[in-house]
Amino acid sequence: MKKTVPIAGLAILWIGAAQSVAGQNVPSLKDVFKADFLIGGALNRNLVTGRDPNAADLAVRHFNTATAENDLKWQRIHPQLSEYNWEPADSFVAFCEQNRMFVIGHCLVWHSQVPRSVFRDDTGNNLTRDALLARMEEHIRTVVGRYKGRIQGWDVVNEALNEDGTLRNSSWLQIIGEGSEDKRYDYIECAFRWAHEADPNAELYYNDYGLETSRAKCDGAVALVKHLKSKGLRIDGVGIQLHGGLTYPSVEGLEYAITSLAATGVKVMITELDIRTQTRGYRGADVSQVSRDSTSDPTAVAAETQKKLADKYAEIFSLLLKHKEDITRVTFWGVYDKTSWIGGSPLLFDRNCQPKEAFFAVVKAAQRQ
Ligand code: G3I
Repeated sequence: MKKTVPIAGLAILWIGAAQSVAGQNVPSLKDVFKADFLIGGALNRNLVTGRDPNAADLAVRHFNTATAENDLKWQRIHPQLSEYNWEPADSFVAFCEQNRMFVIGHCLVWHSQVPRSVFRDDTGNNLTRDALLARMEEHIRTVVGRYKGRIQGWDVVNEALNEDGTLRNSSWLQIIGEGSEDKRYDYIECAFRWAHEADPNAELYYNDYGLETSRAKCDGAVALVKHLKSKGLRIDGVGIQLHGGLTYPSVEGLEYAITSLAATGVKVMITELDIRTQTRGYRGADVSQVSRDSTSDPTAVAAETQKKLADKYAEIFSLLLKHKEDITRVTFWGVYDKTSWIGGSPLLFDRNCQPKEAFFAVVKAAQRQ
């Protein structure tokens, strides 16, 4: 047993600890998993600009890597063709640098959160393949180039696959692929090529959800990695987002994803981890399918729910530790429950930034290995 944290008395000690200091009297996750993988979170703008100091304290204490939750998405950073909005992303990168975190850029090419005007000409018609490629190239070179040497890993292409493993029929695919089987991977190839040219030292990733619940989708990601490698392109890793629930993913599904992706020779990362406590409703990762009105979960604080949450986190972390040779990073999609896109009680710290039963279960999983 390589960890030395005295877990047995931890929870008891914590009950009597001052509630005002957010997660400070408990082991630091980045220390607990130091020998295993990086640990991080998605940071929102309130956190990096000082408006949520408790969240910032938690991030600094527990994370050695961070991802911008929204501020590097096309719509945010490049809202008009001739306009870039650097300030939010600059704040994110500065925060990470001040706190010596491994910085992840999320994301360059995605079907969502990109202005529709990117795909249209002045008269409102679809752009030609060449014109859209030119826009994509300009965006990637500009954004990656600005943060060259400062953002160490990029989600180059996000969520390009359907559940059955085929490529999503996004505007990127429709216009650049021109309906031709031969050109179907072209936009992805170009994105990886230009990102690499803009910062040759940056790690480049493909990122998607549902790889741990759909074998067909995971097989599609494996095929994508093999294709890029066959073209001599750089791809360092695949991100399994892992937006889970109290009853999913199964150990078998997650293990299949980790082992089949790792077998292609890439690093495997858990990039957007959360466990939704609501047991009904939409299960995917598309925020437009989530009703903000129904994201509260009346059972979230119930002891039974928190126990299930802790058990699911323990199961997942035990499996991640089993495969730690292949897993380089685990990133939570948020810092504490109030910052989560999904509502309910999906993270390790509650709405007052206090560690939950799930936090101690995760630490215990590390101690058991
Ligand atoms: O900041 C504006 C605010 O000014 C405005 O008043 C408000 C009105 O709705 O919207 C705010 O922006 C919202 C933003 O989150 C910040 O809260 C957007 O509407 C909302 O669409 C956006 O949702 C984000 C979503 O991606 C879409 O970009 C979530 O925060 C973010 O957690 C989520 O993250 C995605 C990953 O990028 C990819 N994988 C799935 C994951 C979950 O959907």
